[in-house]
Amino acid sequence: MQSKDDISKSTNHSINKSSNRKIALTGIKPTGMCHIGNYFGAIQPALELTRKYDARYFIADYHALNSIKDPQLIRDYTYEVAATWLACGLDPEKSLVYRQSQVPETFDLTSILMAFTSKGLMNRAHAYKAMVQANEEMGRDPDDGVNMGLFTYPVLMAADILLFDADVVPVGQDQAQHLEMTIDIAQSINYNYRKELLTIPQPLIRKETKTVIGLDGRKMSKSYNNTIPMFLPTKKLRKLIMKIVTNSQTIEEPKDPDSCNVFAIYKLFANQQQQAEMRRRYEAGGMGWGHAKQALFELMEEHLAPFRKRYDDLMNNKQYIDEILQEGSVKAREIASQKMIFLKKEIGMS
Ligand code: TRP
Repeated sequence: MQSKDDISKSTNHSINKSSNRKIALTGIKPTGMCHIGNYFGAIQPALELTRKYDARYFIADYHALNSIKDPQLIRDYTYEVAATWLACGLDPEKSLVYRQSQVPETFDLTSILMAFTSKGLMNRAHAYKAMVQANEEMGRDPDDGVNMGLFTYPVLMAADILLFDADVVPVGQDQAQHLEMTIDIAQSINYNYRKELLTIPQPLIRKETKTVIGLDGRKMSKSYNNTIPMFLPTKKLRKLIMKIVTNSQTIEEPKDPDSCNVFAIYKLFANQQQQAEMRRRYEAGGMGWGHAKQALFELMEEHLAPFRKRYDDLMNNKQYIDEILQEGSVKAREIASQKMIFLKKEIGMS
């Protein structure tokens, strides 16, 4: 027979676990087509976590709603982002995949968290502060264009995380502050009830070990318009690669691979032997930029073609994507509703 204390403890910590492994959870905001920078920088490292953790991935569509008000656009982006992750190797048999909007417990928890979140904390959020500052510089009202969804964005994100008792949350550096806020909010709740009602998550901030550079040599980013999309058709991929910025050295001249944009991208896809061989061709001279780009194109095509095929197949079978997200969301709700029953009891809501 368990004592009352044991029960509440085990209710909290066992409901959310399907195994003894720690839980890793991450949210993906549905935005346009992903590029190879996203793949190497975010998708691949997040998917590698499945080896060590009980991994959960969800599409943060309510977060996207703050900026995207066109229903068809949100729908399209949701399919695109789901197809992208599935094509890149997300296995719904091994990991939980769902849509935030299909787990309404998230919004129930958000309301509870609101009561423990000081407005001052939200005032300090980088994204909000940057908007206010931009408005002030332009002589506009400080809160111009700021909706409450954007202002309270970190609270919704905290709910995403705390609802599933996430132990670790893999995110980019830009999300570090949001994670600190999640921890802050969770701690005030645990402190208030003198009980570990919520699991304090540990941020797993990705270090930019592999900075992926874009066509012009700057960091690959949509805002620089220098990206190579992941699933570009063959011809378009070739055309784009031919646009990579190089210097004006002649064919004969020996070239320095380490200062070359083409080689920087080549390295992402090449194995050690291929890299060494290409390095030798650069240094020997007699290889023009056209040749180097052609070699890069062939290597990328070889690697990306299977991803593109899976992506296209998925996009041609949206019903299958719907089913995966639907099934995942049902499972996610089972976990989430248990957590809410437990939590509501603890805070006097039942
Ligand atoms: N805010 C994250 C981003 O913009 C997306 C996100 C929403 C998220 N909820 C989350 C990430 C919970 C990790 C955990 O990238």
